[in-house]
Amino acid sequence: MKRIFSGIQPSGGFTLGNYLGAVKNWVALQKDYECIYCIVDLHAITQWQDPQELRANSRLGAATLMAVGIDTRKHIILLQSLVPHHAQLAWVFNCVARVGWMNRMTQFKDKAGKDRESASLGLYAYPSLMAADILLYKATHVPVGEDQKQHVELTRDIAQKFNHDYKVDFFPLTEPLIYGEATRVMSLRDGTKKMSKSDASDYSRINLTDDADTIADKIKKAKTDPHPLPDAPPASDKARAARPEAYNLMGIYAALAETTIDAVAKEHGGKQFSAFKNALTELTVAKLGPVTAEMRRLNADPGAVDAVLREGAERCRTMAEPVLEEVYRIVGFLKP
Ligand code: TYM
Repeated sequence: MKRIFSGIQPSGGFTLGNYLGAVKNWVALQKDYECIYCIVDLHAITQWQDPQELRANSRLGAATLMAVGIDTRKHIILLQSLVPHHAQLAWVFNCVARVGWMNRMTQFKDKAGKDRESASLGLYAYPSLMAADILLYKATHVPVGEDQKQHVELTRDIAQKFNHDYKVDFFPLTEPLIYGEATRVMSLRDGTKKMSKSDASDYSRINLTDDADTIADKIKKAKTDPHPLPDAPPASDKARAARPEAYNLMGIYAALAETTIDAVAKEHGGKQFSAFKNALTELTVAKLGPVTAEMRRLNADPGAVDAVLREGAERCRTMAEPVLEEVYRIVGFLKP
């Protein structure tokens, strides 16, 4: 059986990076896999969240997944905090994973910044909870953007060490699925930085809640360089690094149009950025507009979204219960 698990933080709505790097692929994968897509509110509180906003964003996140086309009759949208087994398994994994492994995690270094001493303990242990999310359902494949690859690899290390230490063949070795032309969407203001909801400038990203005028304005102000658009994909990492903004905008275009950077280069190469930006704006608005409208419609009916989340949690609890019970037995917890 092939099972997908993937997650997204509800902090502050979804960006175009989330959409192109992950969520858009999640929709396509429903054909061939049994899928669980999770709003990870436990992960969100590793950094400060206003409680009211967190609740609203969790519901909006679920509405967004419904709006992009996750079919909850066949698959599951899960709100992480509704299934306590995630946190319970994460504790066991905290005792399997090594401090040295966590020290290598680049996301922790990025998010903690210079003042590591005052980062939350949760932010440090974050990958262990992510491993628990995945392995609680024995997921075989995890579709993510580039930035989460290291965490999926750590999940494999945790599964392997657990199996080895307890001499069992219990957890599968999960494969990351990273594909498409936008596995790493960069900031519109700086092509060397990831597009992220935590960037101080709202002009660095396109949000799925942005209206057409806002999208047009952000793309118009996006950083470029003085040359015409490249007429071929970057030949090397060095070539990409020389024109990061140009290749980023072309990658976004390619992913939205469901084509390749090569095809975009053939069609638009040699044009001025202003002309390409108009085409990109038109395409972005055409692709995101219907999703945003549907998301708003669904979000206006909280009862319906909450019902989907309650049902998803119930199905997940049924799957998680026997796995956690078996883990407890394997590690030697007494069940009197
Ligand atoms: P999060 O919420 O940061 O991002 C959700 C998904 O979006 C992808 N992504 C991007 N892809 C391309 N370009 C970007 N600029 C960009 N920004 C974000 C991420 O790679 C991710 O796939 N730890 C995870 C959530 C998580 C999870 C899991 C994922 C919790 N448990 C289990 C998979 C399996 C996170 O914070 O993603």
